[in-house]
Amino acid sequence: MILVTGGCGYIGSHTVVELAKAGEKELVIVDNLSNAKEEVLDRIRQIVPVRLHFYRVDIRDEEALDNVFSLNPIDTVVHFAGLKAVGESVQKPVLYYENNISGTLHLMKTMQKHGCKRMIFSSSATVYGPGNEPPYTEDMPTSATNPYGWTKVMQEQILRDAAAADPQLCVALLRYFNPIGAHESGLIGENPNGIPNNLMPYICKVAAGKLEKLHVFGNDYDTCDGTGVRDYIHVVDLAAGHVQALNYIQKHPGVLTVNLGTGRGFSVLDIVKTYEKVSGRKIPYVIDPRRPGDLPICYANADRARELLGWTAKKTLEDMCADSWRFTERNL
Ligand code: NAD
Ligand code: UD1
Repeated sequence: MILVTGGCGYIGSHTVVELAKAGEKELVIVDNLSNAKEEVLDRIRQIVPVRLHFYRVDIRDEEALDNVFSLNPIDTVVHFAGLKAVGESVQKPVLYYENNISGTLHLMKTMQKHGCKRMIFSSSATVYGPGNEPPYTEDMPTSATNPYGWTKVMQEQILRDAAAADPQLCVALLRYFNPIGAHESGLIGENPNGIPNNLMPYICKVAAGKLEKLHVFGNDYDTCDGTGVRDYIHVVDLAAGHVQALNYIQKHPGVLTVNLGTGRGFSVLDIVKTYEKVSGRKIPYVIDPRRPGDLPICYANADRARELLGWTAKKTLEDMCADSWRFTERNL
């Protein structure tokens, strides 16, 4: 049975749907609900028939986690649980290291105790740091510029070391580029509390009239229109990548490191224009100074995922914006 940590969150909930669509009839979810709501579980059940065993558990709580493993025959963990806000990680580094690193260590200790040998881990394009040139390939050196990014670099290292020590361990380190969009049903998506830090949730709040205008962080980069370029990937494509990665690691022990991106970059203004087109809403914006720490351009070399997993992203930028808007209209 598969355990999904952070399964009530944005990417976790979409991955639960894809796992169920791929044939999993029963799944275990652990989430402390620090950044999600339990009602997501009902939404998932509306999309796909699946039995979900939910435990409101913090993965740092070793006893509670141990109990979940004792009650369920878990052979695979898909590990999303973690904190992810870059700015907050600079303000609260200890919290980030504690939650993300200790959480992962507790999870691995518990997996070890119960003989669970498969782990899919949510890493990030942030591990390519500022020292590499896009398109990023998986063999480039990793680094970070903020505590959140360092937690990803460190967790990857911990998992590589654990796999080196145990030849039966099967690990996938999935480096996500910029996930946006929502399930086409409009039932699950991303709706952060407060003022969003990331581009798409911010645009959604402007479109819904909850925020007045978008602040575009810089239009003097060396890019097509001067605004930052990113590799945006539909969250449903990303979720499907987890199913493919799971199929792969079942046959290949050791560590798989793979980018999940489209291999194509779009600018902030490309996103604004496409969102306006599909939603019929105007997205007013102003140009602000660059955001400290932002890279001009970030996109994946997506060859390895295609070659090893047979996976490529299928959905278009129109799909990403249309699905984000549908979720916004129904939920914000
Ligand atoms: P999310 O915040 O929506 O989901 C994370 C979930 O984990 C939440 O439901 C939260 O309540 C839960 N959680 C956090 N700490 C926990 C703990 N100690 N114990 C139990 N549950 C806990 O975030 P997401 O966007 O779905 O991201 C999932 C993973 O992917 C994270 O590890 C994130 O760092 C990584 N990632 C996300 C992005 C992105 O742009 N969204 C990009 C790269 C990597
Ligand atoms: C951010 C994180 C990164 C993390 C990723 C997950 C920062 C600095 N980086 O990446 O570590 O892995 O999320 O998806 O937070 N933008 C605006 N106005 C806004 C918000 C964003 O112009 O209000 C621009 C940014 O300058 C950037 C692009 O939109 O060019 C995308 O930004 P965002 O969605 O925050 O993602 P990243 O910065 O790529």
